[in-house]
Amino acid sequence: MNAFNYYFPTMLKSGIGLAAQAGALLKPHLRRRLLVVTDAGLAGCGLLDGFFASLRAEDIGYEVFSGVEPNPSTAVLDQAVAFLKAHECDTVIGVGGGSSIDTAKGVAAMATNPGSILDYEGYDRLKHAPLPVFAIPTTSGTGSECTASTVFTNQETLFKTVIISPALFPRLAILDASLTLGLPPSITAATGMDALTHAIESYVSKQANPVSQALAIGAVRMIGENLRRAFYVGSDVAAREHMLLASFLAGVAFSQSKLGNVHAISHTFGGVFNIAHGIANAALLPYVLAFNAPACPERLRDVAIALGVDTRAMSVDEAARAVVGQVAELNQALGIPATIRELGVDLAYLPQMVSDSMRSGNVLVNPRLTTAADIERIITNAYHGVL
Ligand SMILES: [Fe+2]
Repeated sequence: MNAFNYYFPTMLKSGIGLAAQAGALLKPHLRRRLLVVTDAGLAGCGLLDGFFASLRAEDIGYEVFSGVEPNPSTAVLDQAVAFLKAHECDTVIGVGGGSSIDTAKGVAAMATNPGSILDYEGYDRLKHAPLPVFAIPTTSGTGSECTASTVFTNQETLFKTVIISPALFPRLAILDASLTLGLPPSITAATGMDALTHAIESYVSKQANPVSQALAIGAVRMIGENLRRAFYVGSDVAAREHMLLASFLAGVAFSQSKLGNVHAISHTFGGVFNIAHGIANAALLPYVLAFNAPACPERLRDVAIALGVDTRAMSVDEAARAVVGQVAELNQALGIPATIRELGVDLAYLPQMVSDSMRSGNVLVNPRLTTAADIERIITNAYHGVL
């Protein structure tokens, strides 16, 4: 067995109704004034009433920045940092989907570091410790509540920049599935497929270790058993709880292992075409699995079994290949297009997409060695529906 490291400092509190007890859970960790980072829809819909009431019940001083947008840009981050400084907040909590939690991490980092967040692209490049950051996810997908990374779109190049620092792991993540009961099926599908992509890419990553793999394959199984149910019967509390936990497990797994070609390519879609991250991943996943299958058949057979495929009469290669069909079928059941053409990807941008994908650190840990020509073929196959 290869030597490996495992570092995961986030405290987890999981349970139905915990968001309405957040004040008491957070209080021991807080300093003077808390900044709540969220989006306007969540701030105004009443879903967070219990959360805000719990802060007031504990006499916690707080301010709310509700300007978060999907695929967050550096412009919104700059506004949020200015807001934090104007209100003299010294701790940050992201409440919402991945964009809110990523923005909260960005604010925590840029409150104490000079320049632009884009200056800190890559691993562990922050000069000063960020402010303490906390997270309450309201979707089951990104895993941002338990990772050391945050992603921002550079508005000039439209390239998505990933910043990773062990200091950006949230101190505390509160998982309360009651916040996810009202998610519409389209968001349940997109975020659930993002979590499945995290779990599978992490499981087959070259940087996977025994701990991350145990978490990743557990997440694959849990998503296979619960995503359809959460999509069709959104009020099913058990399905929602399992999806929220699976998303967390997959996030912890990929915080150790990184991801793979799906995320390397999908980040270029999010930046250039503003396609929802989970949908871009879901549509690409079968094509990347088909590309990877010859390189990691045993691991993909494990994935097939975790997804409920009866592999007993199959060879290892057949079982690996069965994952491709299984994921394509799941996409179809969830109403996700079978090609990236239907998502609005334009091949006129192919050279930029290929070069941006190759800049991603995720290509380096993809189980099959990947060249620019390979990325180009995966994108064109995903465009034309060639599996
Ligand atoms: Fe993702």
